[in-house]
Amino acid sequence: MDLSTDYLGLSLKSPLVASASPLNTRLDNLKALQDFGAGAVVLPSMFEEQITREQEILDELIDHGAESFGEALSYFPAQTSYAFDTSNHLALIENAAAALDIPVIASLNGITDSGWVDYARDIEGAGAEAIELNVFFVPSDPTLSGAEVEKRYVDTVAAVSAAVKIPVAVKIGPYFSSPGHMAGELVKAGAKGLVLFNRFYEPDIDPMALSIKADLELSRSYEMRLPLLWIGVLAGRTEASLAATTGVESADDVVKYLLAGADVVMTTSSLLRHGLVHMQVLSEGLADWLTSRDLASPGAIRGKLSHSRIDNPEAYERANYIRVLQGYGAH
Ligand SMILES: Cc1cc2nc3c(=O)[nH]c(=O)nc-3n(C[C@H](O)[C@H](O)[C@H](O)COP(=O)(O)O)c2cc1C
Repeated sequence: MDLSTDYLGLSLKSPLVASASPLNTRLDNLKALQDFGAGAVVLPSMFEEQITREQEILDELIDHGAESFGEALSYFPAQTSYAFDTSNHLALIENAAAALDIPVIASLNGITDSGWVDYARDIEGAGAEAIELNVFFVPSDPTLSGAEVEKRYVDTVAAVSAAVKIPVAVKIGPYFSSPGHMAGELVKAGAKGLVLFNRFYEPDIDPMALSIKADLELSRSYEMRLPLLWIGVLAGRTEASLAATTGVESADDVVKYLLAGADVVMTTSSLLRHGLVHMQVLSEGLADWLTSRDLASPGAIRGKLSHSRIDNPEAYERANYIRVLQGYGAH
């Protein structure tokens, strides 16, 4: 079965992509994902704070004439869960690009358009075929308006897109008054792809310890519904490639995202839950689903149930509460 797919102007052998996670810090894992049918891999994010901090240290060292940059770097606390610094991040990109036949997408996580953006050029130089820019920003200041928040997204995307020639996809959360309009603004700012959606940081409270719990739970299939909605609404109405992320557990979930209009379907939680071999389960499951319906490629179903192609687009817009209640025996 030919599963080949275009994403961000790149030719992928499959629409299945391993999204950014610590699994993708290891070369053997990346090779296994390729062997199990991944069309591309996204490396874990390098964070703006880390890049800026390294630049500050470098400036301090230049000002004060310290001798060893590498040694000084090892003193500051890791900003990310992967304890990445920029040099091993760039080395990972270089090694992965050399070792894999499938595209290597590097991920940046940032929320401003200032100095750190130059690092995108280093990523390009290291051999990444695209950048995924994760804009992850909790507007906890209640005086910040929606317009200001949106401008920050747009400015960040514009700055990173202008810094490189490789395509930039933007990974965003769903919390905009009009996600469709926001998507258009991001495309105008230079985004060639939209990755929907970031699982927004949601802290919990531990009532025994009386503290905030900042843990991360793996996703479940029901969380697909919000990204599914917006992929379905945007498919066919944006020039950007659409990547679905969140909640993929089975091949049926992959099919659903394709039917809504996703160009590629990403997964992390399922790989963490079931192992890297689950990429093969999804890949073979997708091929079987298509073959059993005499369909030649993912293109045959892509967007078939998108908002603009179905007869009843209101199905995307209004919940039929009466029917739901009847289902529970209420009349
Ligand atoms: C342990 C873990 C680490 C992650 N690290 C990153 C990261 O570095 N950058 C990023 O953009 N997303 C990161 N993500 C988010 C995933 O790429 C993905 O978008 C999210 O988990 C939703 O997809 P899923 O339901 O398939 O897990 C991480 C997710 C998990 C579970």
